[in-house]
Amino acid sequence: MSVSVQPSTELAGKRILLGVTGGIAAYKCAELVRLLKKAGADVVVGMTDAATRFVTPLTFQALSGHPVAVDAWNPDQGNGMHHIDLTRTTDLMVVAPASADFLAKMAQGRADDLLSTLVLARDCPLAVAPAMNRQMWSNPATQRNVTQLRGDGVAIWGPAVGEQACGETGEGRMLESCELLELIVAALTPKVLAGQRIVMTVGPTFEPLDPVRGITNRSSGQMGYAMARAFAQAGAEVTLVSGPVNFATPMGVRRMDVLTAAEMRQAVMAEIANATVFVGVAAVADYRPLEVSEHKLKKTDSEAAQQSRTLELTTNPDILAEVASLPAAPYCVGFAAESQNLDEYAEAKRLRKRLPLIIGNLVADGLGTTENRVTLYDDAGSHPLPILHKVDLAKRLVDELARRLDAAS
Ligand code: PMT
Repeated sequence: MSVSVQPSTELAGKRILLGVTGGIAAYKCAELVRLLKKAGADVVVGMTDAATRFVTPLTFQALSGHPVAVDAWNPDQGNGMHHIDLTRTTDLMVVAPASADFLAKMAQGRADDLLSTLVLARDCPLAVAPAMNRQMWSNPATQRNVTQLRGDGVAIWGPAVGEQACGETGEGRMLESCELLELIVAALTPKVLAGQRIVMTVGPTFEPLDPVRGITNRSSGQMGYAMARAFAQAGAEVTLVSGPVNFATPMGVRRMDVLTAAEMRQAVMAEIANATVFVGVAAVADYRPLEVSEHKLKKTDSEAAQQSRTLELTTNPDILAEVASLPAAPYCVGFAAESQNLDEYAEAKRLRKRLPLIIGNLVADGLGTTENRVTLYDDAGSHPLPILHKVDLAKRLVDELARRLDAAS
């Protein structure tokens, strides 16, 4: 099973207003609140009366740490302007699940309960995650309402196709809570890389020796996948050429799986013509076995006697150097993983490969870890960054890259 890049507290300082309407998918939103809280967001939940038949307000109160807004006529709400107060400090409102009835209500601008009043009174962006039976979804009335909402600037997330609670199969399932989390993070991310087409390499390569064994390294892919996700969330079109790792493809990213450095080079060269940026996060094997045995290598009698065996290696292509020397080379960013003398070795690599920017890290800080400490090297010198969760570091690197691309254009 592949795993997603673990979220950090990347939503710290953000307030999400989650509107839950009546549908069986409401149960998925309990998990969504948990994920949002884990990512550092402050979450306030509003529910329709129908939603409270599926999940109790107490569940959302316990998970969010705030009273749940259900009743428009609650006399305990100070000045009675709860609908205004709630939305004024909100960064994003998400209605999930959004029932067919609630979509219709929103499309018409009605405000006959607290949640629909919140939708109308808000001054923040709104996204909805529809969930309903496939016939209800494809009904022309629902589709008219969705078109109207889109035209009003509302983001429509999903629905997905699949098995439905009613036993039918089709379009109408609410997106999973982890998908909604990704969309929320993306919606709150400034699109500083819009228009950029980024090709990147990530993970290790595996250089086979025989059908069983090979040469590889300990790159987990976490740094590269966090960067691919951050690039896509910042509006870039991302093609990820990935060595063998165990991560799910970030939302909106195109992924090409490869095994060896030669395959990685071939995939990169096939994609590079249209790229505006190339980023080499991959720990590419510098060497591969000169010969790959078709069958599993057996221990010979002489080896057993000598207790040693010699492997002959040959050099792999240097993908980054090749891309950087193309006549119309994209903006090239390299990584340098060193076990010592980081400043000296990283800068030497940057100059040798003719890169405007290289990101150096010590193996002990960054290889196979969840956090990393990097230093950026460019024509202006070296710029150390603090140790950060790789998800937060990737966001910081997005800003660093965007600034340099602006300056270079
Ligand atoms: O995957 P993680 O566990 O999260 O770890 C992240 C990391 C430590 C692997 C990452 O931060 C990192 O430093 N990646 C580059 C590792 C590396 O192999 O560096 P290098 O110094 O050997 O190579 C320099 C640059 O040339 C790199 O951009 C590399 O992708 C590129 N290269 C190297 C050799 C080669 N044949 N082709 C290349 O394109």
